[in-house]
Amino acid sequence: MKDCSQIRIGIIGAMDEEVELLRREAAAETPVRIADMDFCEGVFDGRPVVIAKCGVGKVNAAICAQIMITRFQVSHIINTGVAGSLDTRVRIGDLVISTDAVQHDMDVTAFGCRRGEFLYSGLFAFPADEGLRRTARAAAEESGADIGIFEGRVCSGDQFIASRAQKEDIKKTFDGLCCEMEGAAIAQVCHLNHTPWVILRAISDCADDSEEISFNLFAKSAAQTSARIVRAFVSKVE
Ligand code: ADE
Repeated sequence: MKDCSQIRIGIIGAMDEEVELLRREAAAETPVRIADMDFCEGVFDGRPVVIAKCGVGKVNAAICAQIMITRFQVSHIINTGVAGSLDTRVRIGDLVISTDAVQHDMDVTAFGCRRGEFLYSGLFAFPADEGLRRTARAAAEESGADIGIFEGRVCSGDQFIASRAQKEDIKKTFDGLCCEMEGAAIAQVCHLNHTPWVILRAISDCADDSEEISFNLFAKSAAQTSARIVRAFVSKVE
């Protein structure tokens, strides 16, 4: 547990919809622009936060996380946003809290690694911080939102998953609950910097052939669900 005065939480979302509500509520100061990303410093219930939209994909997400740590000296990182479901139990609107995160497009199987594993280091799925997971669950439960709350593996890759075959392959290989395009990259940066992290993702689509319509219809409301829970969660972090 950290002294409260040392807590400064970095919140990263990929799209405007995923961070706009948080930026508005944080009474954020004029953003600092680095690497074409806006970093907004603000406060939630007396607790300093830094909010950034990183853009889509793992490289942007990793750059953003490293800037949060190096330049803004955040103590924790939360990744908020939407995801495609990989599991029939996890439905549109539901929330997934990461237990760990894997990069489903990391493939050095030619060197004897399993898919997702990093060559030479043996790293595979990065584990989320247990305290942050517990706090996220409590915030989600207390939110009163009529949604399912699930904890499990988040699968990230530089691909929007939109076919049954792709979805089944990821699901079978990694046994994840949802897929998205940033979380595991943020997890890797946090792992390398010893910074606690967690991912909260609300489901916008089923990552299959029905995905396009579903994503367009539900992404905004799902993004807001996740952001609202993150808002409540921040003041509970210890
Ligand atoms: N984010 C939301 N839905 C997604 C999907 N189907 N694939 C990748 N990222 C997503």
